[in-house]
Order: sequence, then C-alpha cells, then structure tokens
Amino acid sequence: MRSSTLLATAAALLATTASAAPGASKTATYPSTPAYPYCTSYATPFASVSKTHPRLFNYNGTGASFFAGTNVWWASHILSDSDLAIVFAQIKNTQLQVARVWGFGSVNTDPGPDSVFFQLLNSTGSYINYAANGIPRLDAVVSEAEKVGLKIVINFVNNVRSSLHQPSNLADSSQWSDLGGIASYNAAFGGNATTWYTDAQSQQVYRAYIKLLVNRYKCSSAIFAWELANEPRCHGCDTSVIYNWATEISQYVKSLDAEHMVTLGDEGWFAAADGVGDGSYAYGGGEGVDFVKNLGIATLDYGVFHLYPDSWSYNETWGSTWIRQHAAIGAQHSKPVVLEEYGGPPSPDNHTAVEVPWQRTVLDDTRLAMDQFWQFGTIGLSTGISGYDAYTIWYNGTEYASLAREHAAEMLEKRV
Ligand SMILES: *[C@@H]1O[C@H](CO)[C@@H](O)[C@H](O)[C@H]1NC(C)=O
Ligand SMILES: *[C@@H]1O[C@H](CO)[C@@H](O)[C@H](O)[C@H]1NC(C)=O
Ligand SMILES: *[C@@H]1O[C@H](CO)[C@@H](O)[C@H](O)[C@H]1NC(C)=O
Ligand SMILES: *[C@@H]1O[C@H](CO)[C@@H](O)[C@H](O)[C@H]1NC(C)=O
Ligand SMILES: *[C@@H]1O[C@H](CO)[C@@H](O)[C@H](O)[C@H]1NC(C)=O
Ligand SMILES: *[C@@H]1O[C@H](CO)[C@@H](O)[C@H](O)[C@H]1NC(C)=O
Repeated sequence: MRSSTLLATAAALLATTASAAPGASKTATYPSTPAYPYCTSYATPFASVSKTHPRLFNYNGTGASFFAGTNVWWASHILSDSDLAIVFAQIKNTQLQVARVWGFGSVNTDPGPDSVFFQLLNSTGSYINYAANGIPRLDAVVSEAEKVGLKIVINFVNNVRSSLHQPSNLADSSQWSDLGGIASYNAAFGGNATTWYTDAQSQQVYRAYIKLLVNRYKCSSAIFAWELANEPRCHGCDTSVIYNWATEISQYVKSLDAEHMVTLGDEGWFAAADGVGDGSYAYGGGEGVDFVKNLGIATLDYGVFHLYPDSWSYNETWGSTWIRQHAAIGAQHSKPVVLEEYGGPPSPDNHTAVEVPWQRTVLDDTRLAMDQFWQFGTIGLSTGISGYDAYTIWYNGTEYASLAREHAAEMLEKRV
C-alpha cells in the first residue's frame, strides 16, 4: 500500500458504543453467530495452485487461468453495507477476480463508533472489537464477496510507513502506522520495528488474531488467500529474521487451515545473494527481505511483489524489468508469482502512459498468474471514503476503461 490512509468517515451512524470484548487474547471467545451470513456455498471450490500448471491458479475449479485483480483496502473499514455492495458489484462487473482487503485495524485507545477497528491493544492484552464497527465489518466483506462471486485476499497486520497519516491515538507514531499495524503492537507490548518479528508477546497476540480470523472464515470459498502482512520490512536486519518469521507463521496458518492459500505480502525486494539486478536499493536486501529465499518456503503458496518506481527512485520503464525479474524467479521455483500492487506516477488520473506498458509486459512477456492494480476507487458512496491516494484508478475516470476493464478482459483471454 502506498501513502494511504485515513479511516473512512461515516455519516451519523447509530452504532452501539464500541465496547471491546473483555479478556486478553488468550482467553477471548469467538461468537459463533456471524453478523452477516457467510460460508453459505460450501460446494464452491476454493482457489488453489493449479496442479497441472503450477505457476497458475485454479480459481473456481474450472482449471488454470490468468486473471486480474485489484486492491480495495478500505472495504473492511467502511461502515455502510450498501456502499460495500456497490463497491464489490463494480469490481465484479469489471471482471476483476480478486480484491485485496485489509484484515487488520488495531488501536491503542478506542477511537469511537465512527472508526472501524478490530482489536484494541494495551499493556493488559488484546481486546477484540465485536461491536458494529469491529469484526462484523469483516463478516460483511466475506459475506458480500460470496454473494457477488468475488474472491478476497485478507492480511493480518500492517507494516507500511506513512509519514502522512498517523492515527492520533498511536503512541509510537515514529514508525509503521497505518491502521495500527506493527506500531500499535509495539506501543502496547514494547517491541520496535525490528524486534516485533521475534517479540514473544507481540507474536502471541498476532497469532491469536490470526487464529480468530482464519477459524472464523476458513469455511468460505470467498477467501482467495491469507496474507501474513502488508509490506513487511525489517530495515537493516539479516534476511533470516523475516524468513524465519514467515516460515513459522505460514506453518501456523496452514495448521489452522490447510485448504486456503497463504502468501507473505512483501514488496518483493531481492537480496545481494540472489544475484539479480544491479545491487541498488531494490536488490540490496536493506529492508530485510529476500524474495528468492522466501519463495522457497513450502507453506507459502505463491510469491508477491509490488511496484512503485517513483517512491523507490527508479524510472518508470524500469517497472517492466522488475516484473520480468520476478517472473523469472517464479519460473525457477515453479510457483505462481503475482504483481500484487502497482502504481505510478503519483499524479491523479495520469497513470495510463506508465501502467499500460507494465500491463503489456505482464500479458505478453510473462507467465505471471495475476496482477492487482493499486487501487480501486469509486464515487457516490454514502459515507465518502477518505482513504484514496494519487494512484487511485477511478471507476468514474477515463483511465478505468483501459487499466481496469480492458486489462481484466485481456488477462482472462490469455491462454494457458
Ligand atoms: C470461473 O468459472 C467460469 C465457469 O463457471 C469460467 O467461465 C471462468 O472463466 C472462471 N474464472 C476463472 C478466473 O477461472
Ligand atoms: C486496556 O483496554 C481494556 C479495554 O478497553 C480496558 O478494559 C483495560 O483497562 C485497558 N488496560 C489498561 C492498562 O489501560
Ligand atoms: C530495536 O530494539 C533493539 C533491541 O533493543 C535495538 O538493537 C534496535 O536498534 C532497535 N531498532 C530500532 C529500529 O529502534
Ligand atoms: C531507467 O533505469 C534503468 C536502470 O534502472 C536504465 O538502464 C535505463 O536506461 C533508464 N531509462 C531511462 C529512459 O532513463
Ligand atoms: C503525468 O505523468 C508524467 C510521468 O509519467 C509526468 O511527466 C506528467 O507531468 C504528469 N502529468 C500531470 C498533468 O501531472
Ligand atoms: C471521478 O471522481 C473523482 C473524485 O470525485 C474526481 O477527482 C475525478 O475527476 C472524476 N473523474 C471523471 C473522469 O469524472
């Protein structure tokens, strides 16, 4: 995710006061009755890695295919059911097959009923929010995705640095922040941006949150994949820190749910040992991520990478090089690889010239299973979303025809 994020503001909503369920995460009980119906279509096959074409996905039991998706992080952070229905219907009618949605949202103090959050973290533990502005919003996302026949990627924690928007209730605002994320764990339990991956208390609470989500939704065919984090980084760390953490956590997710796919959610940085690229920032391992090594983790079903050359000080044509390099590593590992986020340049309604060539590279030069543009935007929702950014591809905009509709159709037409 790029710059992101403000919580969606809701019009006057008669939600009950957000009361976090008492009890630390260890003892939290999970209500058996979801707020919205889901897991209603057990017969629908889950998405999986294709057995006959291991670089591709079997989306719905009809065989391996190529397809496009998108990101709509805020779908879980809006309070209106009708808005959610509009958004998923628009994504569906574009022929996009997968939407990536934030499964996290943690705070250190209760922000009140107009903001969505899923857990409150403080020194006495994790308090899951089952009020209308909490877990029921994730229930609604899964329910609506099933209803329209869309699949979603749900991630468990955020690690993106944003100097633009800091939740005001976050003690540790100097680090990673959007919607709580790793910083909100650290504010409660005392770790920092690099020790979080091995901090016993943070990891225990993170696992408990994973257990809640996975057990709650693992029956749903709407889940495309579980994702460990959004853009995990461990700046200056040996790449073994994230590798070991991703190994253990993905094994844990598989122990809870052996059926759905699991992916890491990283930006796809290479490390020097990979021998890819020119050794500059994206290839130097400085963020503690080694794409090649991580792709070898048996309990990660597919690899992902992101693409923001303007933020990373690369030129825009380099984007196609970055795409081909990841496609080549996917071929070596015989695993699906997904261009999970891409955006450029950060100037509104001005992405076509830069992104169409990237999409052509995906289509013509690679066997990438899927790409997901950052990010879907639409107007006319009742509550007004404030989480859009300069990379948004607007449903009402002129670029939507080529970057979303045509590209989605072309990906579906691509032959296996
Ligand atoms: C899903 O199944 C339908 C047939 O019911 C097929 O036409 C469609 O292409 C499939 N979608 C994907 C992404 O494989
Ligand atoms: C942590 O939050 C919970 C739920 O709001 C509250 O009951 C508890 O008193 C808080 N603990 C501390 C130390 O503030
Ligand atoms: C995090 O804490 C560790 C151990 O105290 C320390 O070595 C490291 O420099 C800290 N990292 C950051 C980013 O503050
Ligand atoms: C873009 O950057 C690459 C190296 O990352 C360089 O080889 C290429 O010449 C540059 N292209 C332009 C148009 O500047
Ligand atoms: C559109 O993006 C290009 C870079 O691809 C930039 O050179 C140009 O100034 C942008 N136009 C506007 C109107 O922002
Ligand atoms: C689409 O809506 C956005 C948000 O209101 C606006 O900035 C943009 O100009 C609109 N695009 C078109 C083509 O009307």
